[in-house]
Amino acid sequence: MEERKWPGPKGMIPEPERNAADANMHNRRYLDELLTEMRIIDSFEPDLTLHLFGRTFASPIMMPAFSHLNKVGITGRTPMQEYAAAAKKMNLVNWVGMEPDEEYASIAAEGAETVRIIKPFMDHDEILKQIAFAKSQNAFAVGVDIDHVFGKNGKYDVVDGIQLGPVTLEDLKTYVSAAGDTPFIAKGVLSVQDARKCEQAGCAGIFVSHHHGRLPFGIPPVMALQEIRKAMPDTKMKIFADCSIETGYDAFKALALGADAVSVGRGILPGLLKEGSEGVVVKVTRMNEELSEMMGYTGIGDLSRMDSSVILFHGQHL
Ligand SMILES: Cc1cc2nc3c(=O)[nH]c(=O)nc-3n(C[C@H](O)[C@H](O)[C@H](O)COP(=O)(O)O)c2cc1C
Repeated sequence: MEERKWPGPKGMIPEPERNAADANMHNRRYLDELLTEMRIIDSFEPDLTLHLFGRTFASPIMMPAFSHLNKVGITGRTPMQEYAAAAKKMNLVNWVGMEPDEEYASIAAEGAETVRIIKPFMDHDEILKQIAFAKSQNAFAVGVDIDHVFGKNGKYDVVDGIQLGPVTLEDLKTYVSAAGDTPFIAKGVLSVQDARKCEQAGCAGIFVSHHHGRLPFGIPPVMALQEIRKAMPDTKMKIFADCSIETGYDAFKALALGADAVSVGRGILPGLLKEGSEGVVVKVTRMNEELSEMMGYTGIGDLSRMDSSVILFHGQHL
């Protein structure tokens, strides 16, 4: 039998190096095992428009909350600026991870609606300062990646020499209040319990994610997403998801199972690092086409009509 080739882009870990604790492997397998019905009669070309926090975007496929891509690209600009430019050009939501204020400002200056995700620093004042700075730059939303507390040694992680620390429900309430009229998002939710705490804290949204495998044996975010939707059917929080969303077909499955919008992460890296913003535009344009194809074939005319009953797992409706 021919050996199966890992379909992921170059940035992904090749299959032979994978192990069972690697949550990325479980995302991929789970997403690939979700199959769809066809509902073609009375189906027309779908509309991908996303309405989010009072703004309108061209598609529910968003840029990832990346960081540390400081190397200067072929155009003399950083990859962070390059993908922000793609978001602006395509009218997509842009996300930015751990970046110092001045870098964040240069990325936000590309003009896309940008969400700033701040690390869970041990120094809470630093978080509050970065929230205030993001607000001064008209951030679309702000948040904290609450799944980046521990490192591989089981201690509070240290990134770029900066000490990270725990996040409590009370901390979340403080950040929500500091964000004020700017939506606050908790990134890195992977359980109903945490989703309920985020709601209690007043978060405007949660990002269902394990940050490409921070949690060994972590369940696929798309699986957690379904649990959260079932447990909290009336939540007002927006629910985002990522992890191994590499194609518009993956995006469709996450959206059908309850995500309001999704981020493509490492899937944009090959194009981004090779061709800058143009490489990202090519990748996401193709993903939008694939998403549209899936919505068309499943009779889903727009995002408000997403329907989990078109998806089957091992022959069973979910
Ligand atoms: C180079 C790189 C830097 C990242 N930096 C951050 C960060 O600073 N903050 C954050 O919340 N997530 C960060 N992430 C995680 C992504 O936002 C995303 O959650 C993760 O990559 C899962 O998506 P994927 O499987 O499609 O890559 C980073 C990921 C990569 C690859």
